[in-house]
Amino acid sequence: MTSLEPMTRTADGLGTAELPPAIAPFDLKAYLKERQATVETALDRALPMAYPETVYDAMRYSLLAGGKRLRPILCLAACELVGGTQAQALPTACALEMIHTMSLIHDDLPSMDNDDYRRGKLTNHKVYGESVAILAGDGLLAYAFEYVATATEGVSADRVLRAIAILGKAVGAAGLVGGQVVDLASEGNPDTTLETLEYIHLHKTAALLEACVTTGATLGGASDRVVEQLGQYARAIGLAFQIIDDILDITSTTEVLGKSAGKDLDAQKATYPSLLGLEESRDRARQLIDQAKAQLEEFGDAAAPLSALADYIVARQH
Ligand code: FPP
Ligand code: MG
Repeated sequence: MTSLEPMTRTADGLGTAELPPAIAPFDLKAYLKERQATVETALDRALPMAYPETVYDAMRYSLLAGGKRLRPILCLAACELVGGTQAQALPTACALEMIHTMSLIHDDLPSMDNDDYRRGKLTNHKVYGESVAILAGDGLLAYAFEYVATATEGVSADRVLRAIAILGKAVGAAGLVGGQVVDLASEGNPDTTLETLEYIHLHKTAALLEACVTTGATLGGASDRVVEQLGQYARAIGLAFQIIDDILDITSTTEVLGKSAGKDLDAQKATYPSLLGLEESRDRARQLIDQAKAQLEEFGDAAAPLSALADYIVARQH
């Protein structure tokens, strides 16, 4: 035995060496599987069929079309990290997926990206027509806020209100809507700068990922400082997420992605790879993930899920 190995004194004082129980490495695959199942069940229950069936059917079609459920899982993980429970954050986790889904329904419309496939299925407007798809998106957006307000339990009204305000800001012109407007305006513009591209990604993608983590932490009872710190983690993974999305659009296939590949080139969209090249874009994504993980250091092992989720974002293939 070397002096570095731990030794536990036994009752007989003989000092039999006993290693402390090994800490199992964090199993992200099992964690994602379990959380995805929780979220699927919760989403299905959150939005039952009702009259008028056409719009409820359209809302459920896109909401329950699978997907990684990364946003709700981030929300639950942040809530638990700061000492809250899954139950406190579950309605907001569902609301975040409703908002994400509605943004994709609208993003795929003929007036925006005009896409035929999403999550391996026909897009909402291809199945239900454009008017119903617009309304299904609107219905999901409104219901997301109603659901947080009415279904959240075990959290003070003040914290629920703060979570609702975070969601509103992330969705509106200061967030997703603003990012999408600049994205559409810069399509086909060869002079789009890296600064504009970063604005687009931070608003169109990172704003909602940030809201996932900051609502989760807020509902779990975190201090303002911790909410802000976790927000920085989320902004960095959000930007990295979109850089990887840009890379996959070039390097992957429609089958693997479940949505049309090669669209950015067709639409002459400025992307990280088009401005920086593939290798530098990958480096940038890795640097951002390191920056994100640096924000988690003070939480130690408790932050293993958020840390592993950050790594998963750069390693993902779809
Ligand atoms: C996908 O980007 C689209 C988004 C991340 C969000 C788009 C936002 C809107 C349509 C605004 C929604 C309105 C409200 C009120 C929230 P992409 O086209 O780069 O990626 P894709 O390849 O997955 O389509
Ligand atoms: Mg699109």
